[in-house]
Amino acid sequence: MDTNEAVIKIRNLSKSYRDFWGLEKVQALKSLSLDVHKGEIFGLLGPNGSGKTTTMKLLLGLLFPSSGEVTILGESANNVEKNERIGYLPEESYLYKFLNAEETLDFYGRLFNMTKAERHRRIDHYIDLVGLNHARHRQLKEYSKGMTRRIGLAQALINDPDLVLLDEPTTGLDPLGTRDMKDLILKLRDEGKTVVMCSHLLADVQNVCDRIAILYEGELKELGRVEDLLKEQGRTQLMTSRLDEAAITEVRQVLEKHGASVETVDHPTSTLEELFLKTVQESRDRPGRRFVPEDAPADASEEESVEDVGPSDDSPADAAVESQAASNQESPDAD
Ligand SMILES: Nc1ncnc2c1ncn2[C@@H]1O[C@H](COP(=O)(O)OP(=O)(O)OP(=O)(O)O)[C@@H](O)[C@H]1O
Ligand SMILES: [Mg+2]
Repeated sequence: MDTNEAVIKIRNLSKSYRDFWGLEKVQALKSLSLDVHKGEIFGLLGPNGSGKTTTMKLLLGLLFPSSGEVTILGESANNVEKNERIGYLPEESYLYKFLNAEETLDFYGRLFNMTKAERHRRIDHYIDLVGLNHARHRQLKEYSKGMTRRIGLAQALINDPDLVLLDEPTTGLDPLGTRDMKDLILKLRDEGKTVVMCSHLLADVQNVCDRIAILYEGELKELGRVEDLLKEQGRTQLMTSRLDEAAITEVRQVLEKHGASVETVDHPTSTLEELFLKTVQESRDRPGRRFVPEDAPADASEEESVEDVGPSDDSPADAAVESQAASNQESPDAD
């Protein structure tokens, strides 16, 4: 859903941090202008120190800008009342270690105006949503990093916000937790919320965000829809079922007739993330299954549980044919 209605309007926003003597120390943000639309997942990317967290804090009114303006949910960023409609997951959540998940959410829920019944309903809903049902009565001091990140997210959502700001939401999560967090973020969008997340983990952002901004040393360097920014307009990619040598030769000839040269002919590879998730899933489905290298000596004591699961031959039977499109067809982006 992208209604183009701006939930956040940032205009010429700059922020300088000053030292003890009031002298300018760092210019963290330089004349940033961008809009975030209602119902989108917007990614703020950039290397360490590029101004992502500073931007989030300016949106929340936790910092005052040196110059420029921010309108958020129709209000000035300085109006802290608007924060009741915003959920914020900071880079590091500061949670009370001696409370359990339920008590933590109850504590934060009480800061907002809602009935006891509504608070309890939301506590159940968000503990379930972040997958902490099994640990809801354990004190947070016993939580792993990933579990702490999840309860931090539930805390950010307890006020059922319209806008959610997530600062490095996948920090400390393993690939499974990362995938869960990405699914959760997509779910938030499905619920009609607008999400702004910042990260320097590009793979985390690529398949979640609708649009991204790239910051470098406080300056906006790139802004747009992820698919548009990544698409290589000057090349064409075909994906087919498996082809034999004769067919590939014929395809080459046809493409050459159209002035295109074939750059690569190969089988597609999946990502390490996909392999990892598949391996974990299979391990859950078939406990005791183990990879045994071909030259490993047989272990008689465990013969029953050992099974060779070396590379299977059910790998995708597809062959990718990437071709250079007609070379006279210039990319619209090329300059
Ligand atoms: N309180 C502060 N006082 C002085 N300088 C600060 C302060 N907070 C941030 N900075 C500086 O502002 C710049 C931007 O910092 P910011 O935390 O916004 O970066 P970031 O993009 O979130 O980085 P990271 O990926 O490491 O979280 C950095 O040079 C940082 O050193
Ligand atoms: Mg940061």
